[in-house]
Amino acid sequence: MTQNQLIAKKKVAPLKSVPINSQAIGVFDSGIGGLSIAKCIHQNLPHENLIYVADSQFAPYGDKSSANIIERVNKIADWLINQQVKAIVVACNTATVSAIDQLRLRVSIPIIGVEPAIKPAAIHSKTQKIALLVTEATAVNTRFLSLVNKHKNGAEIYIQPCAGLVELIEQGLYESEQCRKRLNALLVPLLQSNIDTLVLGCTHYPFVRQLIQDIVGDKITIMETAQPVTEQLARQLEIKGLLASYEHISQQCFFSSKISHEQAQLMSVLFGKNVSLQQLPAL
Ligand code: DGL
Repeated sequence: MTQNQLIAKKKVAPLKSVPINSQAIGVFDSGIGGLSIAKCIHQNLPHENLIYVADSQFAPYGDKSSANIIERVNKIADWLINQQVKAIVVACNTATVSAIDQLRLRVSIPIIGVEPAIKPAAIHSKTQKIALLVTEATAVNTRFLSLVNKHKNGAEIYIQPCAGLVELIEQGLYESEQCRKRLNALLVPLLQSNIDTLVLGCTHYPFVRQLIQDIVGDKITIMETAQPVTEQLARQLEIKGLLASYEHISQQCFFSSKISHEQAQLMSVLFGKNVSLQQLPAL
């Protein structure tokens, strides 16, 4: 075990003075995309405290190298562990495929990742032709590609990297004409391939789900992962006796590595509650 691993393990130990049930769940993403997961967690587990981190100064992760993504993931995870979180949700497909395996080796609290719904899509698809919308980094990641092969069950998978889409959503342009045009350019060629199922493989994309459905039409089923991720988190917390009690009045805290008034407003709209945004210390 390296010195770093030892340090990380040591940081995980909860303080005796903090009752374990009320410790927060840490949720993070390169930006606002992970709110699609955080919102589902909050709706299903309303008694849980949440600490959400948007790593906006380093967004998007989709055009970064694996080494860069691993560095950011480790820094944010260590910061969250210092805040005594009881579990971490890596609410980002790109960070999950790039960094979750090594993160699980470094720390001892439950780490829940986000993976695209390839297996349910392969079961659902009648045409056995499925499109997967992902970031550029995810599209070439070997862990992701082996996941596709493992779960495609004979279906034909069209992997579509969506350069530029996360940036538009981060700017709050998720309902704009500019975003519709970008999606049109990405989706229309896919429609020639007789796909009947479309998997959203980035946590930002649920925020453009309606635009996508308008372009592809009602006959194509869109799949996302917020619900299964929430269920997996709940299972893990239950197994480890870490669920908050039903009497607990929860708090949700939001941090960003690049705060602005606009971002706080956008996060409030997307989370569905007033977000008071705090600056993440430089990591
Ligand atoms: N929301 C993230 C994902 O699920 C990352 C997007 C990005 O920063 O490129 O992949």
